[in-house]
Amino acid sequence: MADAPMDKCPFTPPYPVPHKSKASLVKRFFTGWTSWIHTLFERSYTMKMGEIHLPRLDFYIANELSIVERVMTDADREFPKHKFLSDFVEPLIGQSVFNTNGKVWDDQRRMINPAFAHTNLKRVYDLMSDAVADMLAYLRAQDLTQPIDIDPVMTHVTADVIFRTMFSVSLNRDEALQIHHAFTRFQRNAQPGAMLHLYGLPGFGFPKRALRASAEIHKVFEPLVRGRYDAFHRGEMPEKPDILHSLLEARHPETGEPFGFQELIDQIALIFLAGHETSASALSWALYLLSESQDLQEDLHAEIVAAAGDGPIGFEHLKGMEGVRNLFRETLRLYPPIGFFARAITKPTVMREKPMKPGAMIVISPWLIQRNKENFSCPHSFDPDRFTRPEEAEAVKSAYMPFGKGPRICVGAGFAQQEAMLVLAEIIRAFRLRYPAGPKPEPVSRLTLRPKKGIRLRLSLRG
Ligand code: HEM
Repeated sequence: MADAPMDKCPFTPPYPVPHKSKASLVKRFFTGWTSWIHTLFERSYTMKMGEIHLPRLDFYIANELSIVERVMTDADREFPKHKFLSDFVEPLIGQSVFNTNGKVWDDQRRMINPAFAHTNLKRVYDLMSDAVADMLAYLRAQDLTQPIDIDPVMTHVTADVIFRTMFSVSLNRDEALQIHHAFTRFQRNAQPGAMLHLYGLPGFGFPKRALRASAEIHKVFEPLVRGRYDAFHRGEMPEKPDILHSLLEARHPETGEPFGFQELIDQIALIFLAGHETSASALSWALYLLSESQDLQEDLHAEIVAAAGDGPIGFEHLKGMEGVRNLFRETLRLYPPIGFFARAITKPTVMREKPMKPGAMIVISPWLIQRNKENFSCPHSFDPDRFTRPEEAEAVKSAYMPFGKGPRICVGAGFAQQEAMLVLAEIIRAFRLRYPAGPKPEPVSRLTLRPKKGIRLRLSLRG
């Protein structure tokens, strides 16, 4: 796809301006310390395949779509998740379905699938709706003469949604803040820990601090899981089946064994984190993009009122909100919460004439692929209507992958879209958003992509 000249492109929201050329290993070490997207150079976005050789790891970054397809679809099961990434997230999510491989992953995915069938979108809709109503009441009660940092508010509502659907209880704001701060601390320590490891240097306490931060996150839900685990094994049933109940009932496809307590904790930790951290990131960026787009807000407001009037926004109303859906999709294109997928080379392989040794890492990055001008026109610009244009349909099919691709694709994609549309529709219907004067938010990419110093928005009540 030909790229339009920049001055003809719509609004371009902030992203780290790429370096003119590849920086030295030392410079990359320091810029990558806190955010890997800050190490990118211009050709990173357009090259078919790049390579980086670090003391402890050979990396290949594949942008060519046929290679992306081959690696992500992994028909011959030769590109499992790379151990480096599993080690990085292990303190948080243990040996759960996100980072296991082979038969262990197969069995785990089969065991958790029914739990996701439970998140059967219509059934959880009312629980989501209750959490969103609480968030709206919270926003209405704020002093709207001052800008509000929307990022912790989105973290709370998405964590509350997952709490209610997983445990049938709500999550209070203090617990949500505790999680938010602990997860930020985890990322701040795990990323440098990983960098030091890659360069063959000692950890300087970073991995230990990351471990302490994950223990703090676990503390929020472990007592709940313990109580329910014991009750289930005494034969007590919950009032309504929730995700935890499905996990308690899950049986290994061959041995018939249930999850042990630690295995259960790992899966719960994963679903909890994968299920809210990513959605919170997407929602914060979507609200930022809206705050810079006054006309779009008016169009979406009209769409929402046409679909749902001023009454409760029901499950059936979301279908009529294509503009809100496209806002969410375009946000995920520009700011994919998971910016890269790391797979392992398991046997001698040649790609684009590069011989790769077993143990090397092949990285597929939606951040790069979705911002490549060969795939999307005006790739760094905010243009939700691209999802309605036939000339971009092929790119959407082959080069749009915020939820991954192939067998490891996100199990919660439908859940996330429904939740995000509901949050956005309620906020757009109730408020006008404006970005205050001053510096723009800065995306930083560690494990997930987040705004470096939050996103402060001015909200004013409509009507
Ligand atoms: C905007 C929101 C979300 C985004 C962008 C997102 C993105 C992703 C991506 C990219 C992967 C695959 C990573 C890879 O291939 O290396 C993934 C996997 C996963 N996601 Fe999500 N996710 C979101 C929301 C959710 C929600 C709401 C849940 C659960 C309620 C969830 C649960 C999972 C699980 C369990 C996996 C592991 C699947 C497996 O490996 O079999 N995610 N997600």
